[in-house]
Amino acid sequence: MTKTIHILNGPNLNLLGQREPDIYGHATLDDVAAQCAAAAKDCGLDAKLMQTNHEGRMIDWIHEARDNAAGIIINPGALTHYSIAVLDALNAFDGPVIEVHISQVHKRESFRHQSYVSLRADAVMAGFGVHGYVLAMQHMGQLIGDGK
Ligand code: DQA
Repeated sequence: MTKTIHILNGPNLNLLGQREPDIYGHATLDDVAAQCAAAAKDCGLDAKLMQTNHEGRMIDWIHEARDNAAGIIINPGALTHYSIAVLDALNAFDGPVIEVHISQVHKRESFRHQSYVSLRADAVMAGFGVHGYVLAMQHMGQLIGDGK
């Protein structure tokens, strides 16, 4: 059976393409979903992209990934910087976790330099724009795809 990678997106990422385009660019989350689906297919994986503005829903989705996903690509948005609950949920997931930030968070305000999620993430992408999601998917392919 084809392994599925869940691509989880946190608060405000539904506004991708409209929100602060000078920082996050013009691509939408639908564009990201299409690019990730193509990248996943290339390495024999399936991709399922989700977005929520709610911390509890994000945690529920991470729990669901325990049964339904072989790996997680996560852009937690601002939850990155304060949610120990998201970190705890990810610590209960056994597969690979890749953290993605569209912007180069380390070049921005100091509160964005801290990531609780990085304490669990196996790899971190920051500053590659939305291409970071594709690179993360290609890395998933190397870790658990059919090219492995
Ligand atoms: C972000 C960076 C976060 O600091 C911010 O709160 C976001 C998006 C990024 O993709 O660059 O919402 O995760």
